[in-house]
Amino acid sequence: MTTTNSTDQHPPARSEFASDFLWGCATSSYQIEGAGFEDGRVESIWDRFAATPGKVKGGASGAVACDHYHRWPEDFDIGRDMGLNAYRFSIAWPRIFSEIGGKPNTKGLDFYSRLVDGMLERGLQPWATLYHWDLPQFLQDRGGWAERGTVDAFLEFTDAMTRRLGDRVQHWITHNEPWCTSMIGNWEGLHAPGFTDFATALQVCHHVLLSHGKAVPLIRANVPDAQVGLSLSLHPLRAASSSAEDEAARLRHDGLRYRWFLDPLYGRGYPQATLDIIGDAAPAIHPGDMDAIAVPTDFLGVNYYFPETIQDAPGEGPLSVRVLKPQDAETTALGWEVAPEGLAELLARIESDYHPGPMYITENGSCYDDVVVADGSVPDAERRAYLQRHLAALRDVIDGGVPVKGYFAWSLVDNFEWAEGYGRRFGLVHIDYDTQQRTLKDSGKWYRSFLRQE
Ligand code: FCB
Repeated sequence: MTTTNSTDQHPPARSEFASDFLWGCATSSYQIEGAGFEDGRVESIWDRFAATPGKVKGGASGAVACDHYHRWPEDFDIGRDMGLNAYRFSIAWPRIFSEIGGKPNTKGLDFYSRLVDGMLERGLQPWATLYHWDLPQFLQDRGGWAERGTVDAFLEFTDAMTRRLGDRVQHWITHNEPWCTSMIGNWEGLHAPGFTDFATALQVCHHVLLSHGKAVPLIRANVPDAQVGLSLSLHPLRAASSSAEDEAARLRHDGLRYRWFLDPLYGRGYPQATLDIIGDAAPAIHPGDMDAIAVPTDFLGVNYYFPETIQDAPGEGPLSVRVLKPQDAETTALGWEVAPEGLAELLARIESDYHPGPMYITENGSCYDDVVVADGSVPDAERRAYLQRHLAALRDVIDGGVPVKGYFAWSLVDNFEWAEGYGRRFGLVHIDYDTQQRTLKDSGKWYRSFLRQE
């Protein structure tokens, strides 16, 4: 079913956005770099998880991925030619540290230094994410993020990277999607390290948020004029019906999925109603932790893909809720609902609940089963429409006064889509994994003409 609304009837134009608006694409280290064990990189939790039978579709891993480690000049040329003025990437911690208390690996530092120079040479403002899920396995062996000591290890990593890149990289994202790091990786068990324990996930979450809070002043100390924030994955939430039970379920889910992150980040502590529900599963919190987490930031990164519909489900999980699959809605190849109005709804809500200051869409994109056709093109009309409609919704919500300052499409290139392996394509650029050939999809061509105002 295709929906139409006012957003769909008025296509977006770049001239409708501020002239200093950032236009980027986002990627992450494990999903694109490959070069799994080159230049001193050590094992990450994703290497271990991918090597565990049954965890990743097709037994795939990021060992080769898009070979971006060697092909980044070509990828950045494509980004420049598309008309991007910003690029979001992440840094593989296992390229930098190979043991507790060790020295940073010069070859790893040099790689990211070259990468940043490559962006700057092409007019791409670098946006560095410190943690996009590839924790070194040696830290997981000591308990990973469930261990408080990992916060200190993260600060060492942060210190090394900001010292090395801080003369050229002003924009830093401490964490990508703490929900996924903690809940998908440690409660749902679908991502590395693959645990299924709710209390562990909540402890992980607390340490991730704490490491964010402690990293912010460190980054500011090392980087002149630093702009620091983090990226949350958020969904607008809808109740499955108008019943009081479903509405109460929606609020319970909201407490964990939205407020659990935003309330502490903006100084309100963890929501009491959620603490009451989770009881003994609550994380250990040391004095001063909540103040550290509430450190003021320069921006909020929002990753938006789809809305969630919540149903009351007594006895199901700690919250007695069920997230429903979309019914009668337009969906992508991953079954994610296509709902551009959800982006506007979400941003307006965050603005009214927290006034976080500048916001950036640090990820937004769609998965379709793309193919290269006979004339060599990749006709991904659905992704192109997804992009257009979300940019139109973004324009409208900005016109309504919500301070969004940039948009990063997920993703520049097709890549390793975590537990889904390589079958799920999100790129504006198609990758042939046999030949590593890059082909700009029709969606990428549209983004190019939008950005160049052709
Ligand atoms: C987000 C992740 C990103 C990518 C997209 C599709 O949750 O941050 O790495 O996998 O989903």
